[in-house]
Amino acid sequence: MNTLLLKDNPQDIKTAANILKQGGLVGIPTETVYGLAANALDGAAVANIFTAKGRPADNPLIVHICSFEDIKKFELVSEIPLKAIQLAKAFWPGPLTIIMPKSSRIPKEVSAGLSTVAIRCPSHETARRLISCADMPLAAPSANVSGSPSPTSAQHVLNDLNHKIDAVLDGGACAVGLESTVITLAEKTPRLLRPGGITLEQMEEMIGPIEVDPAVLHKLADNAAVSSPGMKYKHYAPKANVVLLKGSDSAYIRFVNQHASKHTAALCYTEDINQLQVPCFSLGKQKEEKQHARYLFEALRAIDLNPKIQTVYARCPKAEGIDMAVYNRLIRAAGFEVKELEEL
Ligand code: TXA
Ligand code: MG
Repeated sequence: MNTLLLKDNPQDIKTAANILKQGGLVGIPTETVYGLAANALDGAAVANIFTAKGRPADNPLIVHICSFEDIKKFELVSEIPLKAIQLAKAFWPGPLTIIMPKSSRIPKEVSAGLSTVAIRCPSHETARRLISCADMPLAAPSANVSGSPSPTSAQHVLNDLNHKIDAVLDGGACAVGLESTVITLAEKTPRLLRPGGITLEQMEEMIGPIEVDPAVLHKLADNAAVSSPGMKYKHYAPKANVVLLKGSDSAYIRFVNQHASKHTAALCYTEDINQLQVPCFSLGKQKEEKQHARYLFEALRAIDLNPKIQTVYARCPKAEGIDMAVYNRLIRAAGFEVKELEEL
């Protein structure tokens, strides 16, 4: 099939909406990463997402809507928890996904057999125009082939899915660059399942204490039960070995320079670059957490373009604020190992 490249103009949005109404698949921009969308209420259309991505069938999808009212309009949930109203008021539209008990209208392909559904209201204007033009909730995982990094441009989507999907709607580069925060409100205590652009601290200010699922910061035993099926699958790691180094600026620079060879590189902050004797891939400025999130996947992709690099020495961010999301993705890329550096 020929994959159409569509732009954000009224005619192309209509074309994309028509494809979705007929059960097709469209790559869509959001503020976090690009998604691969289908009509969330059409189980057969949603099943095609799994085929196109090579996604395991037991990994549920996020349903994207245009406003909080869409939850009722499309009858997506069996109950709206009070805390969902509070979180949505504070952070929607935006990079936050809320899990609630699902209604019978949600096809099993979306919820992967669970009794819950994940809902998100993106802030990207192109996505919002498409959802309201199509007048349907859109099920969409990240628009990458399973196992490769989430796409942050229309070109990344084409690199992975050209000829496998009906169209890609180009809405420019994604501002956040990492997938949304995922929280479940379907149990007694709210629990963070995936850190992202909305931080734990921001959410606790609105709804009080939130548990952090163990899988966010630690490797689970092979047979452990997971709350969010996506967490058990191998996440994107570059072909090179990623070594996460924890310590002061000077300890990091000393270690990387001591281990410099033509096969090593650094995944570091902008301030480190002129002190390092290896090729550098930047996470942005040390104190600018949002930059770390925005540059991480781009940097990992760039590392993969250089086959000489065998080992990447990466700065280990603190597991707080937006950096908790960066840490969550990086420890997976590093096989859950963090090396503590010796300080002088
Ligand atoms: O920013 C994002 O969230 C992007 C854009 C496109 O919206 N989407 C995204 O989707 O990252 P995906 O499918 O790559 O990640 C969704 C995560 C998976 O880890 C999945 O297991 C989890 O959310 N999830 C979805 N529904 C769930 C549910 N009912 N219960 C527990 N986890 C769920
Ligand atoms: Mg994904």
